[in-house]
Amino acid sequence: MTQIRTERLLLRHARPEDAEPLHAIFSDPVAMRWWSSLPHERLNQTRAWVEGMIAGNVAGAPDFVIEWNGRVIGKAGFWKLPDVGYILHPDAWGRGLAAEAVGAAIDHVFAERLTDIVTADVDPENTASIRLLERLGFVRTGFAERTWNIGGEWKDSLYYALDRVAWASRLSSGS
Ligand SMILES: CC(C)(COP(=O)(O)OP(=O)(O)OC[C@H]1O[C@@H](n2cnc3c(N)ncnc32)[C@H](O)[C@@H]1OP(=O)(O)O)[C@@H](O)C(=O)NCCC(=O)NCCS
Repeated sequence: MTQIRTERLLLRHARPEDAEPLHAIFSDPVAMRWWSSLPHERLNQTRAWVEGMIAGNVAGAPDFVIEWNGRVIGKAGFWKLPDVGYILHPDAWGRGLAAEAVGAAIDHVFAERLTDIVTADVDPENTASIRLLERLGFVRTGFAERTWNIGGEWKDSLYYALDRVAWASRLSSGS
């Protein structure tokens, strides 16, 4: 099983018991404000989500639970290649942890040659996520209106992409 250690984090495959700590995130309206579903109301919804994550890893989509000082603080990775997805507990925001985790997941898929491009679909109002993607070197590739209907409300999408060459040159320039 793949595990990735970064300076401050451990990224590892999901286990069934991750449902409880992940539910604290997936039930939080602040964390879920721009997610592709409404906040989870019941633990069973998060349990099903974690089961999907486990099955995805078995099928070859590298999605990781993020541990920080032994505590599960979120997830980063690929439910389905090449689309990257990430969410952190609001307690952990603003410390560069998402950049560290998402950067490590991207490093992994390029190093293992699982894909030549990583893409992202982000709500135009999700400033933190847009900043994170641009900081990692993603470039904007498109925009579409009314792409997601979340609880009766239409949301738009900004599309981003990062290819292997851009990622390698970013690493070699040390940015
Ligand atoms: C997006 C998210 C993962 C960022 O987590 P984070 O750990 O706070 O991010 P980082 O600390 O690594 O910051 C990355 C960049 O975003 C910036 N940033 C973080 N929060 C911000 C905010 N609220 N407004 C503007 N910029 C913000 C940081 O300053 C940093 O930029 P910098 O390196 O130029 O300083 C987190 O806000 C989150 O979990 N959001 C909810 C889930 C979500 O929206 N996921 C993405 C769906 S596409």
